[in-house]
Amino acid sequence: MMTGFMKHSLLLLSSLWVLSFPVAASDAPVPKLDKAKTSVLDTASLQRGADIYAQYCMGCHSLKYLRVNRAARDLGWTAEEGVLHFQYLRDGKGKPHDTILTTLDAKTAKAAFGVLPPDLSLEARLRGTDWIYTFLRSYERDAQGKVSNRLFEGVAMPYVLEGMQKELSPAAFDAAVGDLVNFMDYAAEPAKPIRLMLGWWVLGFLALLFTLTYLLKKEFWRDIKH
Ligand code: HEC
Repeated sequence: MMTGFMKHSLLLLSSLWVLSFPVAASDAPVPKLDKAKTSVLDTASLQRGADIYAQYCMGCHSLKYLRVNRAARDLGWTAEEGVLHFQYLRDGKGKPHDTILTTLDAKTAKAAFGVLPPDLSLEARLRGTDWIYTFLRSYERDAQGKVSNRLFEGVAMPYVLEGMQKELSPAAFDAAVGDLVNFMDYAAEPAKPIRLMLGWWVLGFLALLFTLTYLLKKEFWRDIKH
């Protein structure tokens, strides 16, 4: 005989089992993402990425959770240099404690694109660096001049890196997009470089502690005959 409790457990287990199946959202094949080989400990790459962001993305997208002076400090710039790098669209009127905003107003954006360009502060967390890296390298222009993106069907964002892509060799373009994605990864978690560095300090400390403890153990047991 089955008790009520057993029945409930069985029901719960079977529903969990059903839930564990992957949900097929559509029949479209899942696109393969290219690997973005980024490292937020590479400050020179972050600086290059920040400059590309300021030049090519900030006109439409904000990074509203990141302050200019915070980014400047983490990227090895003074606050004033940070303002120069991030706020040039405002004719140098920005302040170091400003967040990184776009000068595009919502109304104009809506009229031009039909959708608002989203804030990109947390984009690297949302989509992952591989997705953004693949997305930015998946734009095409066909013979009729129509722009499309292999990863994002019907995307409202224009082919903003077209000029850069034409100017650079394929390897140099990939590297530039890599720097840009690296900066977006940093922007999504400004404490990440510190967190990673801290990890190495802790490992170094543990290695030192292990050596000292081992030497101490040898000292204690030196005169003890087995
Ligand atoms: C001319 C305006 C404009 C510029 C410049 C621009 N974007 Fe966009 N971007 C958009 C719009 C509009 C969308 C929304 C697309 C949609 O939903 O179809 C978008 C969407 C995106 C998305 C996808 C967001 C998501 O998860 O759905 C990413 C990532 C992105 N942009 C990154 C960038 C980067 C990086 C740059 C700089 C190289 C950049 N954009 C420059 C207008 C722009």
